[in-house]
Amino acid sequence: MALSSRSRTSQQLVAVAALLSVAAFFLAGPAAATGKTGQVTVFWGRNKAEGSLREACDTGTYTLVVISFLSVFGHGKTTLDLSGHPTAGVGDDIKHCQSKSILVFLSIGGPGPGSQYSLPSAQAATDLADYLWYAYLAGHRGDVGRPFGDAAELDGVDLFIDQGAPDHYDALVARLWSYNKQFRARTPVQLSATPRCEFPDRRLARALATGVVTRINVRFYGDASCAADWEREWGKWTAAFPDSGVYVGLPASEKTAGYVHPKNLYYGVIPVVQKAANYGGVMVWDRFADKQSNYSGYAIQWA
Ligand SMILES: *[C@@H]1O[C@H](CO)[C@@H](O)[C@H](O)[C@H]1NC(C)=O
Repeated sequence: MALSSRSRTSQQLVAVAALLSVAAFFLAGPAAATGKTGQVTVFWGRNKAEGSLREACDTGTYTLVVISFLSVFGHGKTTLDLSGHPTAGVGDDIKHCQSKSILVFLSIGGPGPGSQYSLPSAQAATDLADYLWYAYLAGHRGDVGRPFGDAAELDGVDLFIDQGAPDHYDALVARLWSYNKQFRARTPVQLSATPRCEFPDRRLARALATGVVTRINVRFYGDASCAADWEREWGKWTAAFPDSGVYVGLPASEKTAGYVHPKNLYYGVIPVVQKAANYGGVMVWDRFADKQSNYSGYAIQWA
């Protein structure tokens, strides 16, 4: 709703942008290499009724699926909360998704009431990084169990830090990134973060300042006043992290604050965000809502 009140301004912007791009075409040939990336990320694991991970990957409308969430960590215990999805079988689905060139990440944190996490010390950050590496990523060690099985190796880790102190997430991502140094021409750990709309998100600021978080999914939803000023916030995020891909995070359900009707996505949002040199793509929250609305069916065509 907040966004639709701005659609007129956005349409004027589109008109101006169209004129400018025509001018740029005649003056200097094709414009700078911004525009479509074709990237659509979705969060999966928030509702059993959303269907399996395999089914999500078979829709053909996602290029990255984030399994969510590892909702308890940092205090000697970890809990993977998949909202009742059986963990057995997820490993095969991960491999199925990857065979279709869809990346699969695991997100840590989350907004759920049952979540409980923070990193009380640098040692806790190291311990969590090592756990993630051996339990979910390309590391394998006999004494660390692998919830998705031995064969499935996730492509990366997402930070969705919505509670607790902001400390030591920089040490966590630095440690995770350091594993890549053991590999030639391969990056077995990619890192993303999913901050709140309003820049900066103090819980993620230090992790993002390390420069190793290469994807940033900004949540332009759940906060009506920030969503209403999304262009300003988008400008801040993209300016602050020129070397990371910044993704526009939108809800697939019209019941969520910040929902953008597909028409406004096409005419109002996409032309604005695709002007940023470090535009990464669209993030859709979440698979359950998207299964009802097929929002990603639009997003994948325009992203
Ligand atoms: C979702 O949209 C895509 C178009 O991008 C279409 O191919 C697909 O059939 C749609 N899925 C459903 C379930 O409507």
